[in-house]
Amino acid sequence: MAEKKLLGSLELNRIYQIDCLEGVKLIPDNSIDLIIADPPYTNVVNAEWDRTNPFTEELVREFYRVCKDSASIYVWCGIGEKSQSLLDFIPKLNTKFYFKDVITWKKQRGLGTRKGWLYTREELLWYVKDNKKFKWIQEFQYSDEKRGKNSYGYKLTNGKRADEYIKSEYKRLANVWTDISEATFNTSKNNLASKHLTPKPEKAAERLVKVHTHPGDIVLVPFCGSGTECVAASRLNRNFISFEISREYIEIANKRLEAVHSEEATE
Ligand SMILES: C[S@@+](CC[C@H](N)C(=O)[O-])C[C@H]1O[C@@H](n2cnc3c(N)ncnc32)[C@H](O)[C@@H]1O
Repeated sequence: MAEKKLLGSLELNRIYQIDCLEGVKLIPDNSIDLIIADPPYTNVVNAEWDRTNPFTEELVREFYRVCKDSASIYVWCGIGEKSQSLLDFIPKLNTKFYFKDVITWKKQRGLGTRKGWLYTREELLWYVKDNKKFKWIQEFQYSDEKRGKNSYGYKLTNGKRADEYIKSEYKRLANVWTDISEATFNTSKNNLASKHLTPKPEKAAERLVKVHTHPGDIVLVPFCGSGTECVAASRLNRNFISFEISREYIEIANKRLEAVHSEEATE
């Protein structure tokens, strides 16, 4: 049996059924490499968990405390008629973290009434703990799309100095993501993520994990849901720690994680 890895009194690579504010208080200072938070947007979907707003200033202070100086935090949110969680989250994050960017995820499908613009996006806020020390792994800042013939650009390969940059044939990733579809969920055999009302794509989580962490680093997933972000961390050999109030969702997430482990075992 694999050895249990601990983070304070918590076991790594486990999802705890607990309010994330209580959970994060159990994490030691300066121990987390990346936080990917997907909190309720509040009163957007018809679910008990979406009726309150757990994204408080106290929670943000705790996130800040547990982050290493090199850490980034990403927070999914929305800005539209149904939810303005972006406006709620920004001032809270600004009290502690350094603002870097807003990524727009352009979805393939839209929502909306006949009178108005079709709503086809979600936002991802990016903040860092220390703007001089945050981790950014340049070799993963490229998309799968090739550059045009005469364009230039440089890809930094592992261990090379800046003057040894090599030319990259791929385009840099921008802050509008159009290449991730809701339909590309890598949900393993039984489409488990679709059993959650608001699952996020694994590809988005994997992109964040790759560019901000190294294997063995620790990703905090405070709002686990169906486990998308834990699955991404696990598949990329990072550790995670996660919290979720619903037992039903934890069971779904654990099944998805088991599928990752059995994929690894058969490789
Ligand atoms: C937007 S969903 C996360 C979806 C996830 N990214 C996925 O791909 O499945 C938010 C989740 O947070 C959980 N939740 C709500 N309040 C919470 C709290 N205070 N602590 C921990 N989890 C909470 C809800 O049960 C819900 O599953």
